[in-house]
Amino acid sequence: MQVTMTVNGETVTREIEGRMLLVHFLRDELGLTGTHWGCDTSNCGTCVTWLDGEPVKSCTVLAAMAGGREVRTVEGLEQDGVLDPVQEGFMRCHGLQCGFCTPGMLMTARALLDRDDDPDEDTIREAISGQICRCTGYTTIVRSVQWAAKAQRDAASADAEPVGSES
Ligand code: FES
Ligand code: FES
Repeated sequence: MQVTMTVNGETVTREIEGRMLLVHFLRDELGLTGTHWGCDTSNCGTCVTWLDGEPVKSCTVLAAMAGGREVRTVEGLEQDGVLDPVQEGFMRCHGLQCGFCTPGMLMTARALLDRDDDPDEDTIREAISGQICRCTGYTTIVRSVQWAAKAQRDAASADAEPVGSES
């Protein structure tokens, strides 16, 4: 069957088997290997991408179900060479060790900060509760998301400040 979808703003069409999962479509058909595949049980969350703006486990979605819809992957976070604040937060606050869970964590964190610009620790832990990190103990992941939230708030208030208001 043929499937067409938008991935990171680009329209893609491929001939696929109807049983192909979105995670395999992204990795094997499009070469977007930033989305990882970590289990066969829908437990690890390393495969999280966005589907029409909502984070989903792409191992639970058939590629055919994404037809006509918008997919965003970790490769779509950076814009014009500028890292997304969540990427920068993970880098600065050591939110990763092996990095295997990181793409999914980043996509979930981005979605969280889009709806809540100042999440507390419990909210962050709940948001990532469907994802497993085998390395960090989660503390630095929480810290990374909080760093990103603050960076975003600071940037928004700097943008809102009227020109010349510093004098
Ligand atoms: S690959 Fe583990 S939840 Fe999707
Ligand atoms: S950094 Fe290794 S699994 Fe999370």
